[in-house]
Amino acid sequence: MVKKRILSGMRPTGKLHIGHYVGALENWIKLQEDYENYHLIADYHVLTTKLDTREIFQDSIDMLIDWLACGVDPVKSPMFRQSQIKEHTELNLIFSMLITVNRLERNPTLKDQVRDLNIENVIYGYLGYPVLQAADILLYKGQYVPVGEDQVPHVEISREIARRFNAIYGEVFPEPEPLLTKFPRLSGLDGNAKMSKSLNNTILLSDDAATVKAKLKKAVTDPLKIRRGDPGNPDICLVFSYHKKFNPGEVDEIDRNCRSGALGCVDCKMNCANNISKFLDPIIEKRKYYEDRIDEVKEILHDGENKAKIVAKITMEEVHTKMMLG
Ligand code: TRP
Repeated sequence: MVKKRILSGMRPTGKLHIGHYVGALENWIKLQEDYENYHLIADYHVLTTKLDTREIFQDSIDMLIDWLACGVDPVKSPMFRQSQIKEHTELNLIFSMLITVNRLERNPTLKDQVRDLNIENVIYGYLGYPVLQAADILLYKGQYVPVGEDQVPHVEISREIARRFNAIYGEVFPEPEPLLTKFPRLSGLDGNAKMSKSLNNTILLSDDAATVKAKLKKAVTDPLKIRRGDPGNPDICLVFSYHKKFNPGEVDEIDRNCRSGALGCVDCKMNCANNISKFLDPIIEKRKYYEDRIDEVKEILHDGENKAKIVAKITMEEVHTKMMLG
């Protein structure tokens, strides 16, 4: 049976946090058994918000190590940098002719970021962010794209571009579909709906037990529960949402004891921190293995890039043939 192909990626912004794991990585690892996976380090996409490239290589390596430490298998899932596969830029150019400025201006992710980051003048490349992403996905003929829900509008744009190309030049591309994790997105430690490095509200996959405890101590809970004895409402408690993911066996008991007031927030947080660390410990151990063997990590990257280049070349030959540019 031919396996269906998955393409997914992330921008290398350094070490990853547990939100990346819950939102996407966990799915990648699960899906690598049944699909043919390709995973991209979107280093060109970083340029849309950060032109200083001095840390980009190190950030890419840090992210790759997190992927490996979580269990992405380099044999099953080639991992590669976008910037090393020239065909991304070529397909990006062709795709940029197949979508209107108007459509890109309506992209909700763009609107959100412009607001969150207070961007006054949108650069040309930023407007084209989803076009490059469409090239990333379709260069590998990705049928499924396991991403966080914030990326769904981008996958929709990829579908539109694929449809348009196929209608004009003939069938080359699948219409990719997003694959979302079942678990809702993890909020940040400050209660913000988004866990994000720029908001400084993350728990990193590389945080040791003491760091996790210290961070949890400051996490927001039900503001009306001030001391043990006060009844709390787990439905609006951030820490409870972490328990659901990292301590599922105890959620019923915690729910009960929080509501009755028997459980205090400090104990509840420390229990949560312990469970998060129980999950993180093997990841940290594996991370250390790779940190001590950077040459092996680079080898994995080069190997992934060689595999990606083969697929990219075949797709572009097909594109050129269909477009009669060859
Ligand atoms: N935009 C994605 C993010 O910010 C990263 C990305 C770039 C991506 N190219 C992709 C995701 C292709 C999936 C497929 O997380």
